Amino acid sequence: MPIMRAAFASRFDDADPLAALTVGERPEPTPPADDWVTVQLRATSLNHHDLWSLRGVGLTEAQLPMILGCDAVGVDPEGRPVVVYPVVVTPGDPRGVSILSEHFAGTLAERVVVPRSNLIPLPDGMAATDAACLPTAWLTAWRMLTTKGRVAEADSVLVQGAGGGVATAAVALAVAMGKRVYATSRDAVKRDRISALGATAVEPGARLPERVDVVIETVGAATFDHSLKSAAPMARIVVSGATAGHEPSVNLRRVFAMQLEILGTSMGTPGELYELLAFCSDNEVRPVVDCVIPFSRVEDAFARLHSGDAFGKVVIDHEA
Ligand SMILES: NC(=O)c1ccc[n+]([C@@H]2O[C@H](COP(=O)([O-])OP(=O)(O)OC[C@H]3O[C@@H](n4cnc5c(N)ncnc54)[C@H](OP(=O)(O)O)[C@@H]3O)[C@@H](O)[C@H]2O)c1
Repeated sequence: MPIMRAAFASRFDDADPLAALTVGERPEPTPPADDWVTVQLRATSLNHHDLWSLRGVGLTEAQLPMILGCDAVGVDPEGRPVVVYPVVVTPGDPRGVSILSEHFAGTLAERVVVPRSNLIPLPDGMAATDAACLPTAWLTAWRMLTTKGRVAEADSVLVQGAGGGVATAAVALAVAMGKRVYATSRDAVKRDRISALGATAVEPGARLPERVDVVIETVGAATFDHSLKSAAPMARIVVSGATAGHEPSVNLRRVFAMQLEILGTSMGTPGELYELLAFCSDNEVRPVVDCVIPFSRVEDAFARLHSGDAFGKVVIDHEA
């Protein structure tokens, strides 16, 4: 059976997710249906999702070994450069869909198979390593701001835990949209870098100069009370993650008195990914990239993400 090199979860380790990562040989993927195609990968990027998978969140033992990775830019069977939309219709999953590396093999490999309808042309002039940041973290941030947060009606945005992949995307996009952007980070160096992106950086929990119209929340328990306190009347608090705990206590008096909307969201639609690619191209918005690491050193990329020191996306170059 033909084989390829891949990074995969071979077991789960909640305390030490890096110990559950294996880099080695896996069988070549075969398209499960006629409308699926094989994509030769050029660049990918890591997401916190990959660490959750190694911890056993969202996967069962029966699904192991599972090739990790949600994001991808590659070449389709006709030789065209493409961005891969990572959400796949999945009968049997309670959401009706899944993200690559949940039910179907992920992108941290030489090749991946996906439905042909999940392929979007790589915009002219956009580097594969930049576009590889967009399909998960940046798409999530785009939908949080636009469809869910209705940022077009807003003047001000707060982004919590701003060093992360989703959070740096939200800061960069909201600044490019001309909003007043506040962002929290625990780390003074990251706060300096957030300021350089055009946001006002503050320590977690700090009182803001104004209450904001949209809050971008991916941290969870550690920041949620601050998100509530920082929200203006009728504000939208949009939640797509809970890195620091998913069971915060919620002051319901503040929710109803201030008429807040707390909105959950995951990923985005193919149409939203087209919009995001066009927005980045037209406005010359480049993803915030922490580092680009060759696929031959994919373990180092995981270690960087796990360290918590990354500012922006950890990108993997499959052609280096
Ligand atoms: N639902 C979806 O579709 C979707 C899509 C993408 C991501 N997510 C979720 O969103 C979350 C972020 O993903 P990501 O890929 O952006 O992760 P990431 O790049 O690893 O960033 C995580 C960020 O969270 C902040 N953080 C972590 N622990 C914290 C704590 N105790 N207190 C305050 N801040 C803390 C950190 O910010 P500072 O270091 O700056 O403080 C860190 O930079 C994850 O939980 C992920 O699963 C969901």
